[in-house]
Amino acid sequence: MNRSVGGVLARPEGPAKVTGRALYVADLRVEGAWVAGTVRSNVARGRLLGFDFDPAFDWKRVVIAGPEAIPGANLVAMIVDDQPLLCADAIEHFGEPLLIVAAETPLTLRAALAAIRPRIEVRPAMLDMEASEQLFKRIAIDKGDVEAVFAAADGAAIRVLEGTYRTDTQEQMYIEPQGFVAWPPDANGTIAVTGSMQCPYYVQKSLMRAFGVEAHNARVVQAATGGGFGGKEDYPSVLACHAALMARVCGRPIRMLYDRHEDLAVTPKRHPSRVRHRTAVASDGRLLAMDIDVLLDGGAYTTLSPVVLSRACIHAAGAYRCENVRIRGRAVATNHVPFGAFRGFGAPQVCFAVERQMDRIAVALGLHPVELRLCNMLRRGDVTATGQVLEHSVGSVEVMDEILARTKIDRHPWRAQQTGNVRRGLGLAFFFHGAGFTGSGEALLKARVAVELDREGCVIVRSASTEFGQGTLTMFTAIVAQALGCDARDVIIADADTQGVPNSGPTVASRTCMIVGGSLQKACAELLVRVGPGPAPFRERARAFVQRGGDSQIEITYTSPPGLAWDDATYRGDAYPAYGWAADVAEVEVSLDSFEVRVKRFTSAVDVGKAIQPQMVEGQIEGGSLQAIGFAHLEAATMKHGQFQQNRMATCVIPTTLDTPTFDVALIEVPFEHGPFGAKGVGELPMDGGAPAIASAIEDALGIHMDHMPATPERLLEAWLAAHPKEEL
Ligand code: MOS
Repeated sequence: MNRSVGGVLARPEGPAKVTGRALYVADLRVEGAWVAGTVRSNVARGRLLGFDFDPAFDWKRVVIAGPEAIPGANLVAMIVDDQPLLCADAIEHFGEPLLIVAAETPLTLRAALAAIRPRIEVRPAMLDMEASEQLFKRIAIDKGDVEAVFAAADGAAIRVLEGTYRTDTQEQMYIEPQGFVAWPPDANGTIAVTGSMQCPYYVQKSLMRAFGVEAHNARVVQAATGGGFGGKEDYPSVLACHAALMARVCGRPIRMLYDRHEDLAVTPKRHPSRVRHRTAVASDGRLLAMDIDVLLDGGAYTTLSPVVLSRACIHAAGAYRCENVRIRGRAVATNHVPFGAFRGFGAPQVCFAVERQMDRIAVALGLHPVELRLCNMLRRGDVTATGQVLEHSVGSVEVMDEILARTKIDRHPWRAQQTGNVRRGLGLAFFFHGAGFTGSGEALLKARVAVELDREGCVIVRSASTEFGQGTLTMFTAIVAQALGCDARDVIIADADTQGVPNSGPTVASRTCMIVGGSLQKACAELLVRVGPGPAPFRERARAFVQRGGDSQIEITYTSPPGLAWDDATYRGDAYPAYGWAADVAEVEVSLDSFEVRVKRFTSAVDVGKAIQPQMVEGQIEGGSLQAIGFAHLEAATMKHGQFQQNRMATCVIPTTLDTPTFDVALIEVPFEHGPFGAKGVGELPMDGGAPAIASAIEDALGIHMDHMPATPERLLEAWLAAHPKEEL
């Protein structure tokens, strides 16, 4: 009996990583390579007038490339063509790249960078998203008639409650900073880059635009990658083009590796948000109308903001049933460094807001937060804000039952009066997260994967889906081994190299397991038919099949499950093929001496459809929850003059093991028939619940409604003093 799916496989890349054999981009020894760095703007907005080059420096020792050296379009190819690779005139954010400089050694490079001063006419910067009127994207979702309900509100049978919720930015803090090595065009005019990334085909697309070359002349190979969390979704397209440009200008390989400081200062982070809720509720707690306004700070360029806003808006009403919903979303331009993808992709912000609003409603109606959620949560057969009827794989009841059984939070008297210097609290968050691209995304992408057999009967898997620590390779190995009934050791996963693998799409959006893994399962089913049945192990049958000249090459193009319909114009329909469902309970202690929050225990019940590798899925849930815990109370992340203030590891605080609670994870499996072995996704889901669960636990402990994350000691003290103006500390 094959136990690849549901069992425990060793990570294919594990031994190389723990023995140091794995080659991250900084480990690559490249013959003849020079190093390159970036001259950047030191203001948030202005006009570039020119550069002062220190005459004391010997400029013959370096090579400098500006925008005019770009052979194709001076653009970062993303959703909208508004971001230059190198700024030529109008500076829109601090740290905007102006010139690339290359030198033989890092020391020379550093001296050269210090000897170049951009001359900039400073202009007033827009740094307040609430004041910005420049839109990147607007989204409207309408269901029913909210105004009719609000008009009928009488303050008794129907009450209206309002809340405004804010979240600050958040840094991904992957272990490995961003980096690339690029080679100059070869005899065929092919540019090659390798580096730390999530999405080789995104990088290829940007190289094609910047260099005016066809796909076969832009080769992108992923190096071993030390974490991404969304932070290596779009930015590698910028860095790869910079490195490739300099390689072309110098005619030699170029290494471009950011140190932590540069990485923190200029790469994208989570979108700051402000979400307003106006909710009409019946006195028994039923949600009658939800009016939600979502505002995201996109920063200086469009980058991924339209799709982050899209996911934010679709998740804004939470995992709740409501007949009348109005959601308005805007992503606006400011002169901040562009914000981008971070695990959750807009959902953590809106999940915080809606869950806080639910707690506010519970307090107003005198209901227990659990009771309010049980009354309103989406169940099988219910209809979401976009009009999607939830017919498949809806684990809401199961996760709630499990979380209540494990934590008994429903019997905990929430916001009970406490005394003493350490106050304790329990808080719940209930949420869902759409797996895969939003709306028509997957239908447009047509993700492809391929499998084939080698002469030994081993199966080679080709996809562009990258491993960056999260377990892609192990998960694919398990799916393939299970589908073929072969040994996991006979599965070979090809390198993510655009010259060797088809485009299975970016490694984002919790899509790798359900979408790409699902295609792999299909490809393997076809391969199994070709190889044929028999008493011998798969590998022997496969070897015989190849030796008889059998054609083992199979490529599958993803098609959406039947019956899904989505209208991009109206934002109506099936926003995602399936959702992961989850409930988190946080147990906290808050010190009234320091206003520090300690998360003691964190319980999650999570419906992933099927846990392909349960231990790794638990790891994803613990890791995601810990990032959410950081987002909730530890990771002060502030912008000043358009600059990220915590731009060193010394100041950019993230949770350590000492800040890590005891985790209790319950995996629930309500299978999705179109996912591999029933699997949905787990990548982003565990990032959504931590902040609201902790905010709720803080409210239980202190009686204070925190509506701005992170709940740092400073913010808690301020809120405490506002609530207890006369009390002595
Ligand atoms: Mo992910 S946050 O969709 O890279």
